[in-house]
Amino acid sequence: MKIILIGKDGQIGKSLFNILKGRHEILPLGKKECNLLIKDEITSIFNNIKADLVINSAAYTDVDKAESDKKKVFSINSDAVHIISSLTKKHNIPFINYSTDYVFDGESNKKYSEEDTANPINIYGESKLDGEENTKINDQHIIIRTSSVFSLYGNNFINKIIDSAKKKDSLDVVNDQFITPTSSEFISNVTDILIRNMENYKNNDIYGTYHVVANGSCSWYDYAKVIIAEVLKNNYPVKTNLESIYAVSSSNYESIAKRPKNAVLSTNKIRSLLSVEIPQWEDDVKSAVKGIIKKI
Ligand SMILES: NC(=O)c1ccc[n+]([C@@H]2O[C@H](COP(=O)([O-])OP(=O)(O)OC[C@H]3O[C@@H](n4cnc5c(N)ncnc54)[C@H](OP(=O)(O)O)[C@@H]3O)[C@@H](O)[C@H]2O)c1
Repeated sequence: MKIILIGKDGQIGKSLFNILKGRHEILPLGKKECNLLIKDEITSIFNNIKADLVINSAAYTDVDKAESDKKKVFSINSDAVHIISSLTKKHNIPFINYSTDYVFDGESNKKYSEEDTANPINIYGESKLDGEENTKINDQHIIIRTSSVFSLYGNNFINKIIDSAKKKDSLDVVNDQFITPTSSEFISNVTDILIRNMENYKNNDIYGTYHVVANGSCSWYDYAKVIIAEVLKNNYPVKTNLESIYAVSSSNYESIAKRPKNAVLSTNKIRSLLSVEIPQWEDDVKSAVKGIIKKI
């Protein structure tokens, strides 16, 4: 397939390129080649390239900054998606877009399924939910909702914790918001499986929304502990030790955006429909920590 990949420099974009490049002709586009704030740039790509599939992994992903940058956030996460979705529909090709656990309000005490009602509580979540609606303009769409993405590259929680632990003797980390740390590699593997299903079976049933996260869940505090334990196990020098990571309530932790208490997604749908092995979040986090400290 000839695939236009928008967002090639992001965490998921990089993993997708590595996984898909062996079997497909990928046209990787970064902000320089396709700025989602410029409508004409998006349109001219579709005028110049005849593709079989478009994947958009670009987004405005800074949840706190988004609160004071609403116009730009919606332009990238929703308006640009409307344009891509309309153009892919016009060209009769499928469109894959990514979304987030933050479309939910987090008030449920169960894992969220694809059918649960979204009700975002921050600007980022609102813009991504709008983007989902715009993705659906094209019937041949796949929306992949995921959570707390990490990878060897880019700005993510693992990097932030290691960086803080190098500078500080202790860390305060929120213990009442629950998520599932998920590697960009796993998300890209599942995307690849969905694309294979599309290709092999020309099966319209494959289109729709999917929750794609690792197994298990944790608070940010649990997550930080696993990271630091692995850092120490690998003798990487940091000032913070396991006893000096303190659990704090989100009500005592200053953050600009509100975040859902429970952002844990159910993976029942991918388990039942796809032949996929879902990793345990701790295992993937530990191997990412090893990779990250090797690089720094
Ligand atoms: N990161 C998470 O924890 C998380 C959690 C749940 C869902 N998701 C979703 O997963 C998808 C990918 O996330 P990710 O972690 O791979 O994100 P990421 O690493 O932040 O990458 C996003 C990419 O989008 C690019 N971008 C931003 N503004 C752009 C614009 N105007 N035009 C073109 N490109 C632009 C960024 O470029 P610059 O860096 O140069 O701005 C960056 O390369 C997104 O849909 C996101 O909403 C992410």
